[in-house]
Amino acid sequence: MRAPSPVAVRLAASAADHEAALAMRLRVFVEEQGVPAEEERDGYDAQAVHAVAVLDGVVVGTGRLVLLDEGAGKIGRMAVERQLRRRGIGGRILGFLEAEAKRRGLAEAVLHAQTYVQGFYADHGYVAEGDVFLEAGIPHIAMRKRLVGATERARQGKRSRTEAAGAVGSPRDL
Ligand SMILES: CC(C)(COP(=O)(O)OP(=O)(O)OC[C@H]1O[C@@H](n2cnc3c(N)ncnc32)[C@H](O)[C@@H]1OP(=O)(O)O)[C@@H](O)C(=O)NCCC(=O)NCCS
Repeated sequence: MRAPSPVAVRLAASAADHEAALAMRLRVFVEEQGVPAEEERDGYDAQAVHAVAVLDGVVVGTGRLVLLDEGAGKIGRMAVERQLRRRGIGGRILGFLEAEAKRRGLAEAVLHAQTYVQGFYADHGYVAEGDVFLEAGIPHIAMRKRLVGATERARQGKRSRTEAAGAVGSPRDL
């Protein structure tokens, strides 16, 4: 029997990658979770960094990083093909987006976690803050993770402020 192909996680590079990632988000958030279609795609998609997980040439997972102007990145729209969940793909997408945030000089990652997967983010070092709130009708909690230590942060401070300038936040961060 043929060995299973490895999943590759990388930046969405082509129009086809972006279309496949969006199609996956529509399947997962709109069809599976009932998020209104008009809330799924937003203005931040154009400036966000999008990651795709690819298996045998097919996009099976996605996530995005929106650069915030306070030197943080907001991770969201994390989605993995239903039959392929709980095999580590989501964790790899998260790690990839964190590495991209660090590479851009961002000191912190923030996100709005659906409460049913709060443990997933906690396992990856995210700490919850504040109360549970509804976003697109789904219970969420804000979480954050420091990506760099104090020394590295001081070194990156100047770069971070320059690179993050002009970025925006997202009203919904599934
Ligand atoms: C959240 C999501 C992206 C995680 O992707 P994944 O490939 O399953 O993630 P991993 O395999 O790396 O990690 C799995 C862990 O996530 C958590 N998790 C995943 N699905 C879960 C579920 N249905 N219930 C509870 N915890 C769950 C668990 O901690 C799990 O670890 P375990 O299998 O050891 O219990 C995926 O479940 C998904 O696409 N969900 C639907 C969309 C969504 O809710 N996105 C997140 C919005 S914040």
